[in-house]
Amino acid sequence: MNSKYFYLSLILFLIFLNPLESKEIPQAVKSQKGMVVSAEKYATLAGVEVLKEGGNAVDAAVTVGFTLAVTFPRAGNIGGGGFMIIHMNEGNKNIAVDYREKAPKAATRDMFLDKDGNVDNDKARNSILSVGVPGTVAGLVLALENYGTISLKRALKPAIELAKNGFPVTPELMDSLLYFEKGLLKSKESKKVFFSSNGKPPPVGDLLVQKDLARALKQISKKGRNGFYKGKVAKKITRFMKKEGGLITKEDLSSYEAVIREPVTGNYRGFDIVSMPPPSSGGVHLIQILNILENFDLYKYPQNSPQPVHIMAETMKLAYADRSKYLGDPDFVKVPVDELTSKKYSKKLSKNINKQKTTPSIEVSPGNPYESFDTTHFSVIDKYGNAVSNTYTLNFPYGTGISVPGTGILLNNEMDDFSAKPGTPNAYGLIGNEYNAIEPEKRMLSSMTPTIVLKDGNPFLVTGSPGGSRIITTVLQIITNTIDYKMDIAEATTSPRFHNQWLPDMVFVEKEIPTGTKEKLTKMGHSVKETKSLGSAHSITKVGNYYYGFSDPRRAGSLAAGF
Ligand code: DON
Repeated sequence: MNSKYFYLSLILFLIFLNPLESKEIPQAVKSQKGMVVSAEKYATLAGVEVLKEGGNAVDAAVTVGFTLAVTFPRAGNIGGGGFMIIHMNEGNKNIAVDYREKAPKAATRDMFLDKDGNVDNDKARNSILSVGVPGTVAGLVLALENYGTISLKRALKPAIELAKNGFPVTPELMDSLLYFEKGLLKSKESKKVFFSSNGKPPPVGDLLVQKDLARALKQISKKGRNGFYKGKVAKKITRFMKKEGGLITKEDLSSYEAVIREPVTGNYRGFDIVSMPPPSSGGVHLIQILNILENFDLYKYPQNSPQPVHIMAETMKLAYADRSKYLGDPDFVKVPVDELTSKKYSKKLSKNINKQKTTPSIEVSPGNPYESFDTTHFSVIDKYGNAVSNTYTLNFPYGTGISVPGTGILLNNEMDDFSAKPGTPNAYGLIGNEYNAIEPEKRMLSSMTPTIVLKDGNPFLVTGSPGGSRIITTVLQIITNTIDYKMDIAEATTSPRFHNQWLPDMVFVEKEIPTGTKEKLTKMGHSVKETKSLGSAHSITKVGNYYYGFSDPRRAGSLAAGF
């Protein structure tokens, strides 16, 4: 090429591609036969391996669930709980697996109140009393037995190997151990498992070996759920509880059951929404919000412009207000699911929304929605047309930070999701009342929203997110971005998000929400507050014959992979 052409091409290249200023455009991962999207790469790859061997989405999901307990200890777990939504192509069945933790039998309504009747947050969030009876092992085993095709032994193989032989510490794991070291170092066992003898987390690239956890997982591999809820592991948990003044007994563990429930379902602009029923509030309010929004034709306005953000924020507010009143464990209280998710009720509520200005929430002291929390979501789809959407958690990152000696099992602090005192916000600023008061063996209310959206009976979108109270609105925006704004899954995920949870009376926005929108919202009377990232969704969509997976870059280290 002569030099004139070379310089001309260089100038054109700089003009059109503007490499100095260009931002990388995120791309979804494309595959045809199956896909896993999770928060951690070894777990994603373990799931893909199962799919490649001919396993179905449930096989892969259970494998991912156990693997994350080893490789993503801040939220992956066997000492916590969660929810799974399954779509089985055969028979066009949708199933919800509820493996939420339960209050121990000895729990009492006022157990977190101090002598003046105020909530002792440290007791509710960071103590041995914050631990709910774990549900993860029961839930994953139940899902596999009923809807999977591989053995439990196969599902646990990668988790056991990674725990026993170790895996290289990633920068994300080291950072999070450093960030949460204060809580973790208080537990002798967590210190032993996650920190070197000098009290520092292992350096990036060093192997993290979890021999005790490997042994506990081996027990489950040999004995099924009894390997956790009875026998050696259970004994270690209850002995530790007794010594530390915790409430969980042998009977609490042996009587724990995961439950198969009917998912909560709705319809939004021709798509079927299948999501988690109570004891999560996620599905109910997701569908309620979508029903209300159907009255406003969001797609007529540009995404994240003032009008749709205002209407969505007002809608979220109405739903979270209902959440505080009507939601709790359906085994204990009558939750009006049909009423809350009816089109008629939503139409009525939609009339309360003033298109020009915000309607202030009632005054109640706000919580602190800025703390960092952790939960993790993964989505799986297989070549047979099945899909799994799973969100599980220890509540805070590393839960209580407390590990059970000799097991490597981190314990959740899920008891804080109960309403310790009516009207007093929990760690997510969420207000609850009697419906969500502590009772023995009751499940605490959740916001986790694992969701599958179907089009003509087939999975169109599998999604979910961590984020505490912000989970519902994150999942909502993935749905409106894909359905209303026709975005591909990468754009739908990376697009800036906003959130309103009724109390505090505020629209939380990620800083990339357009300035014009923030200014206009303020003029409409909203308090607009910039916040750190909202949620972290790991989703799969099916377009034509292909699956597109995308892991949210808001939290590093995740991976979408397929084949
Ligand atoms: O069940 C719930 O709603 C909470 N325990 C979830 C916690 C959470 O999402 C923290 N993650 N970022």
